[in-house]
Order: sequence, then C-alpha cells, then structure tokens
Amino acid sequence: MRQRGPGRDVARLLADFGHDLPATPAEPAQAKEPRLFTRASRRGPRRAGRGWAASPGAPVSSWRMTSDQVPVLWPLIATPGLPPTGAQMGIDVLSGGSFFADPFGWVLRDDVPVTNPNVMCFGKPGRGKSATTKAFLLRMMDFGYRALVLGDPKDEYEPLCAFFGVDPIAIGPGLPARINPLSFGPLAGGWDTLDRQGAHTRAGIVFGRWLTLIRGLVGSQRVGATPVPFGPVEEQVVKAALRALTGYATGATHLVETTIPALWHQLTTPTPQLIEECRYASTRQFLDESRLLRDALGQLVDGALAGLFDTHTTIDMDWDAPIASLSLSRLMPLGDEAVGIALTCLSSWGRGMRENARSGDLRINVRDEVWKQMRLGPEAVKSFDQDLRLSRAAGDIQWANAHKPADLLSVGDAGSQAVTIAKDLLHLTDVKILHGQDHGVAADLEDLLGLGPIARDVVTRWAMQGKGRALWCVGDQQYKVQTVLHPLEAHLTFTNDAITGAA
Ligand SMILES: Nc1ncnc2c1ncn2[C@@H]1O[C@H](COP(=O)(O)OP(=O)(O)O)[C@@H](O)[C@H]1O
Ligand SMILES: [Mg+2]
Repeated sequence: MRQRGPGRDVARLLADFGHDLPATPAEPAQAKEPRLFTRASRRGPRRAGRGWAASPGAPVSSWRMTSDQVPVLWPLIATPGLPPTGAQMGIDVLSGGSFFADPFGWVLRDDVPVTNPNVMCFGKPGRGKSATTKAFLLRMMDFGYRALVLGDPKDEYEPLCAFFGVDPIAIGPGLPARINPLSFGPLAGGWDTLDRQGAHTRAGIVFGRWLTLIRGLVGSQRVGATPVPFGPVEEQVVKAALRALTGYATGATHLVETTIPALWHQLTTPTPQLIEECRYASTRQFLDESRLLRDALGQLVDGALAGLFDTHTTIDMDWDAPIASLSLSRLMPLGDEAVGIALTCLSSWGRGMRENARSGDLRINVRDEVWKQMRLGPEAVKSFDQDLRLSRAAGDIQWANAHKPADLLSVGDAGSQAVTIAKDLLHLTDVKILHGQDHGVAADLEDLLGLGPIARDVVTRWAMQGKGRALWCVGDQQYKVQTVLHPLEAHLTFTNDAITGAA
C-alpha cells in the first residue's frame, strides 16, 4: 500500500494520526513449481534424434511469387478445412483429413461460401459419379435425410432400394405404374377451407407448376430444328383450359384432377366459354391458331407419354421410406427423347409432391443422367432451373449428375437465351463435384467455372487415375477428395456387371 515518491498515501496519513487501517493478511509463500522445460542450447540438445542443428540457425529467406507458383514450394498448403458435419465422404488428400459433405450445414454457416444446397456432379462415364451419389445418400440417411431418385435410367439404384427393403417403382410400356404429372399432389385437399386470397395463392403454385411442365413438354417437340414455340398466347390457352378442366374457373370447392390427354381433348373440342375467354372470334379461329400446340400435345399423348404419364397416378409411394426410386431402364429402347420426357414429367411430379413438405422433412432429390432431360431444349432447362430455385425453400438438396457442361450448353446456339439459362444453372448449384474428364471437356469446365490451370490438371490427371477421385468445388473453395467406399457400399454401387460379364 505504500506509495513511492514524495507525499503520503492515505494509510500512512491515517497512521500518522494514530489510526491504523487493518492490513490484508499476507499470503503464505508457495513452493516454487518445478521447471517444465529445461533450457537447451541454441542448436538444440546434443543428442541423437533431438533435433540438434550443426549450424546456428539458417538465415531466413523471403520469397515473392504468384499463387500459381506457391504450391510448387508448399504443396501441402490447402484451402481452409470444412467443419466435420454431415456425410463423411472420404479423404481430403491435400490435408490428409476426412472430408465431410453437408450442403445444408454449409449454407447455414457464414465461414463456408455456399448459399444454396444444390450439388452438380460432372464426370466421364465410369469415374464414380453414381457411386459418390449413393455413398452420400447412405451416409446422409443417418441424419434423417430421405432420398428420392427422380428417374433412374439404368436401374442402378435398385440394389440400394433392396438394401432398405423398398421396392423401386418401375415405369415402362406395359407396366401398371402410371404417374400423372398434372396431379395436385399434397395441395389437392382443403380448397373449400381457403379464403379467396389463399385459394388464389395456391392456384398460382399448382397452375404454375403445370404450365412449366406443359411448356417443357411442348417445347421438346420440334418443327425441323426449331422447338415448337410456347409463348404468351399458348400459355393463356393452356391456363384457361386447365382452369376449366379442374373446375377452378367456375369456383368449384372440390377441384378435379385432370390429365394431359384430357387437356389435349379440351383444346381439340373447345367449349364456347374457352373460346371466349381466350378472345377468339370463332371455334375455327381457335382451332387454326392453336394447331401447333394441339398437335405437339397430341404427339406426346400418342407417343412418348402413352401409357405412362397419360392417366391418373396408380402408384402409392411410401414417402416415409428412406429411399424412393423410379426405375426407367425399360424406357431406354424408346430413345433418349422419351427418357428425357419421362424425366421432365417425374421432375414436375416430384416437385408437386414436395409442395407443402413438413419442415424438417429433409430430402435429397437425385437426378442421375440429367443431361437426357437437358437435351430436350430450353424449356426443359427452365423447368430444371425452377427445381433448383425451390430447394432452399423446400428443404431439399437437388443432386444432379451430368457428363460434361456441353450437356447443358447444347440446348441452344452460343449466346442464346437458352445457353444463358443453362450457364446460370451452374450458379444455382454452389457445390460442384468434378470427377475425371478428358482434356477437351476440362477446358470447357475451366472456362465455365473459372477453375484455373491447377484445378484443371487435378481433373484431367489426378482424378482420372482413380475411381471416386474428384475436385469438390464448395463455393470458391476447392478440395481434392477421394470417395472411400465401404465394401458393402462397393457392392451396392457396382455398375460394371455387364462389362465384367463380357470380360
Ligand atoms: N470411390 C470408389 N472406390 C472404388 N470403386 C468405385 C468408386 N467409385 C466408383 N467405383 C466403381 O466404379 C464403377 C463405376 O462407377 P459409377 O459410379 O457407376 O460411374 P459413373 O456414374 O460416373 O458412370 C462402379 O462399379 C463403382 O463400384
Ligand atoms: Mg452413373
């Protein structure tokens, strides 16, 4: 308490006048702790294996270089690690640690540059896209996610379904399963309880989904090389017909589900109300001006959709099962276009089924071989674009597998609106998994995704040297990851049966 320097402190002052302040009792002296570290010489302890240096420290040298050159000297410096949450996929080979994939977890964190949970997987056939997809599904199931395979063109998800005791639903000519892409889904009931505004909003959702589908289907038909147009006029006609068919136009409290053939029929034999609502002068004018639209729909009704997507849904999907899959291999003989159309219908139907999803009902929607759908044309790309946009709201992860970016870009001429939309699609998938590619394709990828030469070499060399190797682009961070399969998973993901049989 004693103060140094001139003057008295308060205690001293009071003491001088006879008032002694009580002093704090002195703490008993503590025994000194033993030294933890003994002092070593500057060159380290002079003993074998103890890090002794012959010279008294190397001079520090400083270097200046570009980020392209840095990895040559410090090859092991990698991107910041990701949190260990979600599916443990395998090894992050640059850090040697485990790599975890958790798209929703990433969206929620500020330190991971990801704003949507969608995943796009590119890779040469046979490099392990589907196997990585299946491993991800299996591992996310532990966290309550369910998988919905919206079209499995090779039936390769069937072993996975069998593993969970689920029967995949096979779709094909002559099979009983029918899916009505114009179904209301979970929004079917309770229209009578909605007020005007509520009914209007709900109609907006349902009719919007149907219009996107019809636009995609009509746009997949071609006159010569150009897709059949689906502009505002066609949209009005289809919308009016759908409103009439469902009873929405007349304000019915119980709406009737309709089908694509019924829509076609309605357009072929238009009612006077429909003609008036669409502002045509006569039935003749209506029929003349909607001919292309009707014929495009008619083609679909007789052709690609016949017996598959042309009547009310007959399947009863168990939405609580861990996985649901729609096998499409029986459509393969009908050609890529038919498969593409089936994928479009299933996509739209799947989207409908997810409207009104319970919160916490997390799902991974898988679209393997999505390029078959993209090839249908710009409208199909737009429909896929809608799915990707909805995922944040619905609590779904959209997972799409494609071979190369050209699959998306072949929808139109360079610089066309379709190509712009396709390029934008890539921005709606913040996570991209790039499996091995040939040089030409990798150049496209580099161009589109701004990969840079090092990442390109990872894709064309390292990733080509082993199955399941891929460059994971999580936002703008890149990870070299080897997917590691459990022997059981290796069995479930084996897709080389045909080749091994031949060898
Ligand atoms: N990470 C991996 N480890 C071992 N084998 C793998 C791995 N990834 C894929 N495979 C095997 O390679 C084969 C082809 O993989 P697949 O996923 O079907 O390729 P893709 O979908 O890219 O065409 C499958 O038989 C699969 O079991
Ligand atoms: Mg595959």
